[in-house]
Amino acid sequence: MRPRVVIAETIAQAGIEALETHCYVEDAVGLARPALTELLHDAQALIVRSATEVDAALIGTAPHLRVIGRAGIGVDNIDITAATSAGIVVVNAPQANVISAAEHTMALLLGQARNLPRADGVLRSGVWDRKSFQGVELYGRTLGVIGLGRIGSLVAERALSFGMQVIAHDPYVGVERARGLQVELADGLDELYAEADFITLHLPLTAETAGMINAETFDKMRPGVRIVNTSRGGIIDEDALVEAIRSGRVAGAALDVFATEPVTDSPLFDLSEVVVTPHLGASTREAQDKAGIDVAEAVAAALGGELVQSAVNVDLGSDVMDEVRPFLPLAEHLGRVFVGVARGLPDRLSVRAEGRIGEYPIGPLRLAVLKGALSAVSSATVSYVNASALAERHGIAITEESSTESTEYVSLVRLDGTVGGREVSLAGTIGRRAPMLVEIFGYEVDLPLSQYMLIVTNADVPGLIGRVASFLGAHDINIANMVVGRSSITGAAQMMGIDIDQPLTPDMVEAVRELEGVEEAQFVKLPLV
Ligand code: 3PG
Repeated sequence: MRPRVVIAETIAQAGIEALETHCYVEDAVGLARPALTELLHDAQALIVRSATEVDAALIGTAPHLRVIGRAGIGVDNIDITAATSAGIVVVNAPQANVISAAEHTMALLLGQARNLPRADGVLRSGVWDRKSFQGVELYGRTLGVIGLGRIGSLVAERALSFGMQVIAHDPYVGVERARGLQVELADGLDELYAEADFITLHLPLTAETAGMINAETFDKMRPGVRIVNTSRGGIIDEDALVEAIRSGRVAGAALDVFATEPVTDSPLFDLSEVVVTPHLGASTREAQDKAGIDVAEAVAAALGGELVQSAVNVDLGSDVMDEVRPFLPLAEHLGRVFVGVARGLPDRLSVRAEGRIGEYPIGPLRLAVLKGALSAVSSATVSYVNASALAERHGIAITEESSTESTEYVSLVRLDGTVGGREVSLAGTIGRRAPMLVEIFGYEVDLPLSQYMLIVTNADVPGLIGRVASFLGAHDINIANMVVGRSSITGAAQMMGIDIDQPLTPDMVEAVRELEGVEEAQFVKLPLV
């Protein structure tokens, strides 16, 4: 069945069309919350922009929701904690609107400095007034950029081309990066406040940044400073800004975002020194096309169970390198096979990457193993998002190791663990055509992973393969492939891996265990491989 994707805010048609190739798309643009809630009941994905409050209550009414897509950058309207604990992946489009946001910042900076909106309004009202709108130049003045991330850097670059000096504050940016941008790094915010003639904010709204520009900080700024905000409204204390402008301490402000949106009535709107726009930073054709397409791709990939780079609530520990990505399905299957053959979750599990894959960070592989292992036993949604938290809840102590050495395979993923005191190990690689098991319980095998597998450990006695095969045949179970595992130490053939065309019932597995010479038998089911 095609997954249902509810689109709650306008995104580009190109994004909708991209989604329609794999999903059933429900148009919920403009719907009131009760109607949206109703649609979400059967939905697997929801796409929003900044106006839809995706809170814990809304998430709670969507039992099948697996992905929330944000067609833009800010995710402050989404309750990430609630999404994470429900195993819902939150993806955004982090690059889509950075140019548009930077250009809008420049438009506001210039618009405020040269009184453009007011002059425009007065002329349209029939008055040719050249005296009232004297502005200030940007040239030679200092711009303070708070937050030198993607948008802040683009603004800095543009301001430099206007002959401004740029000073920035960002605890995550090093001196080298700042030097490369020709930006001076301020030694703390107070230095930036003391030096900047214009201040522009490029920060997310968080508990730390909420209200950070307030009466106290205005007092630290240069008298006559002008402030631009295209990031998030709640970062500026709006009442304090009104006061600071009325008192002349702040010469003006240009605001695209507000503490509460939508807003049509604010004391800020009565001040001639203030230029306002209704959250238009990302409102360009280019940004919307890109955000729509980017979010559609990310949502489709996340619905397909892929680890999406733009997932904001997945703790990867590192980027997913191109070299590691093809091993994620293998790692997930190994996690499932491990739980299948061990008949339970491990208390301790080590994920080891050997050979070429050992050269790269393997945090994503660890997550994939956990996702597979937990999905095998859990009725709840297990995703990359909640796999670590669920593992912790189940008391799984997981470690990861890497080695660039591998004896037989270019790259190998190995799982070693204990389940109720028993040691269980297996290893797999990506074969010529498919992921395959190459070792189970220390026995060497060459078994491509398949949907239904029977793993048997047995005494190395004649006739055993025949007994198992006859049993399966008698139950009309077709054998697609069968391998015998040999001990790498003794050479004894004490393991069989059988790829079968139909699932086995628990009774059948029990009956295989009763066959003469069989020590243990496990049926393992994998999602279609
Ligand atoms: C963002 O966070 O991407 C911008 O603020 C744009 O928001 P919007 O998609 O609601 O226009």
